[in-house]
Amino acid sequence: MALLNPGDEVIIPTPYWVSYPSQVDVLGGVCKYIETTEANQLKVTPQELEAAITPRTKIFILNTPSNPSGMVYTKDELQALADVIVKHDIYVISDELYEKLIYDGSHVSIASLGDEIKERTIIINGVSKAYSMTGWRIGYAAADARIIKAMSNIQSHSTSNPAQASQWASLEAIAGSQSVVDTMKDSFKERRQVLIDGLNQLPGITCIEPSGAFYAFPNISSTFGKRCDSGVITDAVSFCELLLKEQLVATVPGSAFGSEGYIRLSYATSMENIKGALERLAVFLEGLT
Ligand SMILES: Cc1ncc(COP(=O)(O)O)c(C=O)c1O
Repeated sequence: MALLNPGDEVIIPTPYWVSYPSQVDVLGGVCKYIETTEANQLKVTPQELEAAITPRTKIFILNTPSNPSGMVYTKDELQALADVIVKHDIYVISDELYEKLIYDGSHVSIASLGDEIKERTIIINGVSKAYSMTGWRIGYAAADARIIKAMSNIQSHSTSNPAQASQWASLEAIAGSQSVVDTMKDSFKERRQVLIDGLNQLPGITCIEPSGAFYAFPNISSTFGKRCDSGVITDAVSFCELLLKEQLVATVPGSAFGSEGYIRLSYATSMENIKGALERLAVFLEGLT
C-alpha cells in the first residue's frame, strides 16, 4: 500500500506464496508472472527478471527460502538479481520469513549486498515460522526510513498497533536463546530427508530437494490422464481431491501457487504422519490405471 499506485506492475515468480497476487490485485496493481523452471531449480534468473521489466514495473517480489518450493537463492544468484534491480531502479520486497529454516547453505538477504540494493529493498519477516508463533500475528519490516514512515502512517489508520503482549513475546523470541530454533531445525531436516527420499521412490513422482522452509513441491504431472476408483486425474486440483478422498492425505495443488503440475506437502508434522502419508501416496499411485 505504501509503494503501489494503480496500474503499477509487480513481478512475481511462480511458484509464489498464495497471497502475493491478491495483495497486488486489491491495490489495482498488475501482476507480471515469471514462470520458473526445474532446470533452474524453480528460481528466477537475472535474464528472466530483466525481460519482465517494463517502464511500469515498480516492485519485484522475492521469497527465499520459498513457500512453496523450499528453494534458497545463493549469494551469487542474489547479486545477479540485485544488479538488474539497481540498473532498472525498481524496488524488491524480500520475504525472508523462513530465513532461520535452511538445511543446506545459509541465508543471505539481498539487502546486504551493497547500499544501492539496500535502499531499494523492503525486508519482510515475522515470528510465525521460526518460533511457531503464527497465532501471535507479529510481522515486521526493514526498509528505507521514508518507506517505513509511509507504512506506519497507513497502519496507524487501520490496525493502530499489534497487541502489546504479542510484541513482548516476539521480542523475547527474537532476542532470547535461539537453541529451540536449532532443535526444531534438526527435526525438520530429518523429516525433509524422509519425505524427499520417499517421494522420489514413488512411481511417476519427482521432487527436487528443497534447501529451506518446510515444504516439498513434487512434480505429479505424469499422473495426468490416469484414473482411480473415484475419477480421472486431469490437473493438480483433481489429483489433490482424489488423493484426499481415497487415501485421506491433504495436499495443496500447485495451481494455487501459480504452478500447474505440482502439489505441495508440508513436513511441519510428525514423522509418523509423514511416513503414513508416503505409504498412502504409494497405494494411491500404484492403484492408478
Ligand atoms: C512466504 C510467506 N510469507 C508470508 C506469510 C505470512 O505469514 P504470517 O502468518 O506471519 O502472516 C507466509 C505464511 O505462510 C508465507 O509462507
